[in-house]
Amino acid sequence: MIKARRAVAFGFLVATTLFCAQPPIRPGEVWRDNRGQQIQAHGGGMLQWKGKYYWFGEDRSEGNNPDRRYVSCYSSKDLAHWKFRRQVIALEDPEHLGPKWILERPKVFHNARTRKFVMYAHLDDGRYRAARVAVLVSDRIDGEYRYLKSFRPLDEESRDIGQFLDDDGAAYLIFESRPTNGFFIAQLSDDFLSVEKKVSFVQAPLEGGALVHYNGLYYVMGSHLTGWHPNPNVYATSPSLSGPWTTFKDIAPPETNTYGSQSTLMLKIAGSKKTTIIYMGDIWRPKALWDSRYLWMPLEIDNGNLRLPPPHDWTVNAKTGEVALTQ
Ligand code: GAL
Repeated sequence: MIKARRAVAFGFLVATTLFCAQPPIRPGEVWRDNRGQQIQAHGGGMLQWKGKYYWFGEDRSEGNNPDRRYVSCYSSKDLAHWKFRRQVIALEDPEHLGPKWILERPKVFHNARTRKFVMYAHLDDGRYRAARVAVLVSDRIDGEYRYLKSFRPLDEESRDIGQFLDDDGAAYLIFESRPTNGFFIAQLSDDFLSVEKKVSFVQAPLEGGALVHYNGLYYVMGSHLTGWHPNPNVYATSPSLSGPWTTFKDIAPPETNTYGSQSTLMLKIAGSKKTTIIYMGDIWRPKALWDSRYLWMPLEIDNGNLRLPPPHDWTVNAKTGEVALTQ
């Protein structure tokens, strides 16, 4: 009897350890998917859909056909285990941009009215002179996205793009525009297939743009224009998306160059106990892009002040929103 009870208790212990222990997120380390392969979702975006997170990003796998550009999609319930869904695009040069053509920083939105999934990406030639966005569409979140068109949003040059979904469901594209020396925040049309309305132009030459709404303030973030090399990323705030924005401040001690990373998104986890904002950054390895790493950390935000803490292994409870550094 005692033995049986002990066995039950032991079983319970094993079960709770197996099913409840959350593996840590390890900034800068190799991050593997359910197949054991290194996650390829660089310059990524995120969509929350029916209880899961879908992470989309540049797939730079070594085995890819060099004439095509790839975007992969992964899904997760807990933000730590990622299941590879598929390469949602494996596109051939859609606008005759030449052999070194570029497709970067894919971002996917879901349009509730048309029920389509709409992907935006930076589309360019090898010298970054076309400065356009590509729009691709799919009926399924992890289906094959069909190339629709490309354009310059608001007729402006557009290189790095970022995505933002406001609490009212309105979707925005952030895009860097070199000739204007700044970046735009622009609202998408009702069907999300075009960029309709300038909401803000921020006179600061920043890329890797990210935006979040937290406790009544908008926080916008970006990096300086140093290509693959990290620099001190900065942020500003405003009570309204249309500004006025405060002056920009460093998100981390400037000498760390954002701990070697570049911003791509701020992910809002509105948990049952806490709202957590996760900084998602890329640690680029320009000579081996497939081996670029991710730096995800919960941001410390308090009343208009934002800080990226030093990278450390940590866990998140995606249900409650609570985070903890691991020992
Ligand atoms: C970075 C940009 C990346 C990529 C790179 C190429 O500034 O954020 O997405 O375009 O330049 O040099």
